[in-house]
Amino acid sequence: MATILHTGPDKDLAAQYFAEALRHHSQVDIARHLGVTTRTIRHWIANQSVPQSYVFGLQRLLPLEAPAEGEAPFSFIDLFAGIGGIRVAFEGLGGRCVFTSEWDGYAQKTYAENYPGGHAINGDITQIDATDIPDHDLLLAGFPCQPFSIAGVSKKNALGRAHGFACETQGTLFFDICRIIEAKQPRAFLLENVKNLMSHDKGRTFDVIKRSLDDLGYDIHPRVVDGAHFVPQHRERILIVGFRRADRVNFDWDALPLPKRGEHKLNEILHRCDGTEPVLPWDGDRFFNHAANSVDPKYTLTPKLWAYLQGYAEKHRVKGNGFGFGLVTPESVTRTLSARYYKDGSEILVYQGEGVNPRRLTPRECARLMGFPDTFRIPCSDTRAYKQFGNSVVVNVMSHVARLMQPALAGDNLEPELPLRYAVA
Ligand SMILES: C[S@@+](CC[C@H](N)C(=O)[O-])C[C@H]1O[C@@H](n2cnc3c(N)ncnc32)[C@H](O)[C@@H]1O
Repeated sequence: MATILHTGPDKDLAAQYFAEALRHHSQVDIARHLGVTTRTIRHWIANQSVPQSYVFGLQRLLPLEAPAEGEAPFSFIDLFAGIGGIRVAFEGLGGRCVFTSEWDGYAQKTYAENYPGGHAINGDITQIDATDIPDHDLLLAGFPCQPFSIAGVSKKNALGRAHGFACETQGTLFFDICRIIEAKQPRAFLLENVKNLMSHDKGRTFDVIKRSLDDLGYDIHPRVVDGAHFVPQHRERILIVGFRRADRVNFDWDALPLPKRGEHKLNEILHRCDGTEPVLPWDGDRFFNHAANSVDPKYTLTPKLWAYLQGYAEKHRVKGNGFGFGLVTPESVTRTLSARYYKDGSEILVYQGEGVNPRRLTPRECARLMGFPDTFRIPCSDTRAYKQFGNSVVVNVMSHVARLMQPALAGDNLEPELPLRYAVA
């Protein structure tokens, strides 16, 4: 099918995604997926415009591109890769991933399934000599946050264990990143972590990080960005962008387009029980029973767990503590999805009506909440999948950051493109 809309880089994102979606799906399918009529679809085509609120739904219709081959505008390495949430964004700009490190076998499985045909996935980064890592323009690393996160620190304090840099197993991984930057001197890096990294140990941890990167000869630009600008999830993360000082790169966080927070509501990512839930052959009925038009009952909390969570919340309320479960409706913006969501799901429980126990999000809904398209495969158990998505990044945030960094990654001769690039059928 011919592309109907003009898709120049100056056109808005919804129109670009829409044009790309039309290359892969019929108008009827797109209408069904978005919950609009085919008349609306024809109207958008005729008017050459699509409401921005459909960006998210349209994005989910688009297949991820296969790894770039041949000349790539820039190369990058993916450290602490998890399931590749940061990779998706930079690959979407045509970048070529030349090295991956992730030591968790289950995350490796998900990664391998979603980024096929590339290099082997390396394990423990502390055991890898920097000289064995290929040269690259950009280093990506969402390093483990547990030693710095509020929950991680309280737990380690309670157990009398060291946290931050003093945590021997996980706290020093930042210095492995420094070791690699020092040896390979990439043009740029992007580091990601929990917001608490900035205040950990009264700001001393962050001071060490800034000083170390500065000593390596990089100008650094930290910024906290909330995923709620792009998805219905409040998720604040610190992003540290760095460029080789000698390259004199002008980077301005204020140029990051941030749509109003809270405009994305949970109904965008929930399974649809009105007959419009897309059938994903790779999911089958694992999460959603299409014949019955309902979410699999295994996601509904058992009476015992629901009673426990209510009792726990009540106990804390009486003590004056804020802790409680987070009950959400289709109009909500959720709390941060954490890697421990698999335990009881308490931070995000979907209200199912009076007298009915709430349910957890399904792993597919978690994928959507993190901005992964529906083409993303979930090959592991639910428990593993919850951990992987809870550890990952909001892909949409990364895509916008990638676009902002792009001109500096391979000189200034790159054309702006879609934040995520998609395969041509
Ligand atoms: C916060 S997660 C990063 C998630 C990633 N940004 C994503 O989009 O999925 C940190 C990851 O680092 C991995 N990791 C921790 N220590 C490691 C090590 N020494 N070597 C390699 N990977 C490690 C963990 O298994 C985890 O998947």
